[in-house]
Amino acid sequence: MAFLGIDIGTSGCKALVLSKSGEILATHTETYDFARPKFGWTEQDPRLWIEGARVSVGHVLQTVPADQIEIVGLSGQMHGFTPLDAAGHVVRPALLWNDQRNAAEAGDIVALAGGRDALLAMTNNDMLTGYTAGKILWMQRHEPDQFDKVAHAVNPKDYLRYILTGTFATEVSDASGTGLFDVRSRAWSGALLEKLPFDAELLPECHESDVVSGQVSNIGAKLFGLRPGTPVIGGGGDSVIQTLGTSVVRPGVLQTTIGTGGIIAAALTSAADNPDGRLQVFCNVAPDLWHCMGVSLNAGASLSWLTRLLGAGDYAAMVARAAEVPAGAEGLLFLPYLNGERCPYPDPLARGAFVGLTGRHDARHMTRALMEGIVFAFYDIYQLMNRMGIEKSLIKASGGGARSDLWRQMQADLFDCPVVTTLGAAEGGAFGAALLAGVAQGAWSDVAEAAQLCRDLSQQAPDVRTGVAYREAFDVYAGLYPALKPSFDAIQTHGAVA
Ligand code: XUL
Repeated sequence: MAFLGIDIGTSGCKALVLSKSGEILATHTETYDFARPKFGWTEQDPRLWIEGARVSVGHVLQTVPADQIEIVGLSGQMHGFTPLDAAGHVVRPALLWNDQRNAAEAGDIVALAGGRDALLAMTNNDMLTGYTAGKILWMQRHEPDQFDKVAHAVNPKDYLRYILTGTFATEVSDASGTGLFDVRSRAWSGALLEKLPFDAELLPECHESDVVSGQVSNIGAKLFGLRPGTPVIGGGGDSVIQTLGTSVVRPGVLQTTIGTGGIIAAALTSAADNPDGRLQVFCNVAPDLWHCMGVSLNAGASLSWLTRLLGAGDYAAMVARAAEVPAGAEGLLFLPYLNGERCPYPDPLARGAFVGLTGRHDARHMTRALMEGIVFAFYDIYQLMNRMGIEKSLIKASGGGARSDLWRQMQADLFDCPVVTTLGAAEGGAFGAALLAGVAQGAWSDVAEAAQLCRDLSQQAPDVRTGVAYREAFDVYAGLYPALKPSFDAIQTHGAVA
């Protein structure tokens, strides 16, 4: 008895097989890239996802044969718009979660809804740039001929579901990230859809995340080597379902993820009001749970950028050297808005900055300041969450950035609470998807029982003195965006941008 999780990430596809006792029996990741055709634009050819999934699943099936896979769970990057024609063929490359081209369309959807408050009443979410709905409208306006061919608008993992099962379907967590979903009633928002110029029929049927929404078809079986008829559950948007994979299933515990982007998330037992819509309040993968998160678009992506820029090659070595300089990087601060930002400032024009440079600073200070800047960005988002009543007694660190002791310690010190790493957290959405598949199969009674498999692997306690220093530095950091915002706008207006 084994459960397969497949995650369509931004930089690769991971397949993972989990046993009923919670043992990871096999995993494989097949990497791929994404295109940045213009400043702020990000795209990916959906065939990369299918090929990535085919290769990853093929690898894990060499260890666990297909007849032992009882059920499949899917996870994937959220908000991606994959336009398909009536025959299910891809019409143009997918527009990804971090694509910033649709600010005008997102604003227009807010206006069509009758303003932000009216929209929040319909969906409990603002229409943030990057959500799927704005991308659909962007294509309708800018590529009308191509758009005429579009019969289905699906998120990345739901495209894989279609190839695997022949069924168009989604589930509540990914549907939340389209911006077209009423997360309070866990259904598409008819009230919003009737005000928009595109056809609601483009959207797939939506189920709860643990519901079986298709079976592996004969074609899917041939492509992926799976048994025809294997049930496939809804699964979840990666940043939602990976909270199950770190057992963040009750209030009071925060999850931080440092991947390409940075996510700080918490579980909610109700669809708490999202006061000014700057946070994302989404449906969680259990029918009685919701999810609150803020996403900073460039976390690990900022460190990769600096590694390339400094020609450092190995970022682990660079991070080790950052520990040689004191907390606060001798007054150097970094704003991580290298591709615009989503939270706490929904601003595609925001830019990155090092502030406070002196002749004494070297690569170590820049690396440390950058890492601290990512953690300050989390704390900045947490201020909004705290205003909603979300508490912090513990942080569960995940994503590639959780491998760094220094990065985790920064979080413990700044947030003044312990930081743990948990079994399976490094596996991201694929682990959560396999766990949820197990719940659907009856291996565990509910997500809370499944989450118990995510036992702690390490724990770090906060250092009180460093925490005080970090919070002082944070106060300076928090003033930077408001101070620099006029400059970011001026850079755009005066055409200083290529
Ligand atoms: C969540 C988000 C990202 C993507 C990429 O709102 O934008 O986490 O899901 O993984």
